[in-house]
Amino acid sequence: MTSNAPIVAFEKVSKTYPNGTVALNDATFDIRKGSIHAICGENGAGKSTLMKILFGLEPHSSGQVLLDGAAADTAAPDFAGRNGIGMVHQHFSLVAPLTVVENIILGHEPRSGLLIDRRRAREQVIELSRRYELNVAPDARIETLSVAAQQKVEILKALARETRLLILDEPTAVLSPPEIEELFVRLRALRDDGITILFISHKLHEVRALADTVTVLRAGSVVDTLPLAEVSDAEITRMVMGRNIDIVRREASPSGGAPLLELSNVATNTRDTADRLTNISLTIGANEIVGIAGVDGSGQRGLVSLLSGQLHPNAGAIRFAGKVMDKASTADWRRAGLAHLPADRFTQGGTPGLTLIDNAIAGTDGDPAMQWGPFLRRGAIRRHVNAMVREFAVRFRGISERLDSLSGGNAQKLIAARELAGSPRLLIADQPTRGIDVASAAFLHSRIDAVARSGAAVLLVTADLDELLRLADRVIVLFDGRIVANLPNAADLTPAALGPYMLGLEQAA
Ligand SMILES: Nc1ncnc2c1ncn2[C@@H]1O[C@H](COP(=O)(O)OP(=O)(O)OP(=O)(O)O)[C@@H](O)[C@H]1O
Ligand SMILES: [Mg+2]
Repeated sequence: MTSNAPIVAFEKVSKTYPNGTVALNDATFDIRKGSIHAICGENGAGKSTLMKILFGLEPHSSGQVLLDGAAADTAAPDFAGRNGIGMVHQHFSLVAPLTVVENIILGHEPRSGLLIDRRRAREQVIELSRRYELNVAPDARIETLSVAAQQKVEILKALARETRLLILDEPTAVLSPPEIEELFVRLRALRDDGITILFISHKLHEVRALADTVTVLRAGSVVDTLPLAEVSDAEITRMVMGRNIDIVRREASPSGGAPLLELSNVATNTRDTADRLTNISLTIGANEIVGIAGVDGSGQRGLVSLLSGQLHPNAGAIRFAGKVMDKASTADWRRAGLAHLPADRFTQGGTPGLTLIDNAIAGTDGDPAMQWGPFLRRGAIRRHVNAMVREFAVRFRGISERLDSLSGGNAQKLIAARELAGSPRLLIADQPTRGIDVASAAFLHSRIDAVARSGAAVLLVTADLDELLRLADRVIVLFDGRIVANLPNAADLTPAALGPYMLGLEQAA
């Protein structure tokens, strides 16, 4: 077997989007058959665009893509399906009210006559999940599954048609460390079965743990393609960013801030277990950042929903700045000073089809700086939005472009900029740096720190334990909707020390 032959070769691939954005500029490199090939690069570097070209979703403007050494017509109908290329997109594409089976077979349902053969579809999915050891409940509806389970469904969907090349665009952004570990075991097994994997991530330790080769893209051009064994993390960061990035731990908040947010014995009794909470007592003081750790689905979503008015407690009490908030709506929380960075900025935070301006000012209705009576102060709005995107280094073409013309990470940064623009008294930062590159993540951390220092209470929910321990003053671990550990001095903790609590094996509450 010629395992060194390239399965894919990009030759001078360039892409200019209709609005004039040059996303790729003469990108040239090979992907070896049977390898796990990582693609790194800052937000907007062109990673997703290149993958969409290979998947036949976006046409390229010039250059060519070779598949098994022959020029490929990526614009041909069902190009990816016919060539065994599967892709898990940066933003999930599952249909929430449908079941696992329905999602996986969507578009290529087995039929008997004119009817979809449901029994055969179900059997196919069970056989697929057995073959790849990706266990999912075939009849569960997507909206009832944890993100990790949804991720498995996405991967099964991508593998459903004799896939030999699997593209994963930031598949780990929503997973917690044990889930990532499990995903990697599966991906290595796929590689050993001969499947070539293309893997995009902003996390270097993941790239190193999984991939054998890395290509770095910068502003649409290939910087280099190297075996990981021959390049250090610092070198990769320098290639990605063009400079070194220092990552430091946040200095602890001055202790003794007055309690701002108080939950006493709060319980929710929801149908969906991911929102169910039992006997939660928790205080966050002014200036304090409390970090929430836990495997996905341990109650984080319920907690965030409670503190943003999307869910109300069945028992216990919530107070903010002395006021009872048990029945508060989202608008009430906003008025009390809530800023909320939602975990899923596309479905909750932003509206992909609206312009950057509309997205950047959403929720500021009635702000006298933006509005004079019924009239929008357009000049002031443009200045405000321009300052915001500059400060957060959002890469964009023009503020009248649509949000979905931004790269994934740049869209995240825009919503983050909007939420941090005011002077919040309570900040919920839910996976704040998901999908955001190293330099922008460092900047966002400094802004969250500044919000805390200005006297706000901050609730940080993140699957990234390094981020958690760098930012938080105190760590609370959730398991099965309960607090199983309340650990002061986050500075003295390690990710490994949190593991047993996160898995529900130990308690320290
Ligand atoms: N549909 C689109 N229309 C116009 N411009 C686009 C579109 N999609 C992406 N772009 C632009 O192309 C460039 C590359 O975007 P791409 O999504 O490929 O970046 P990326 O490397 O995947 O970034 P991230 O890490 O943020 O996901 C960016 O400048 C982006 O704004
Ligand atoms: Mg992307």
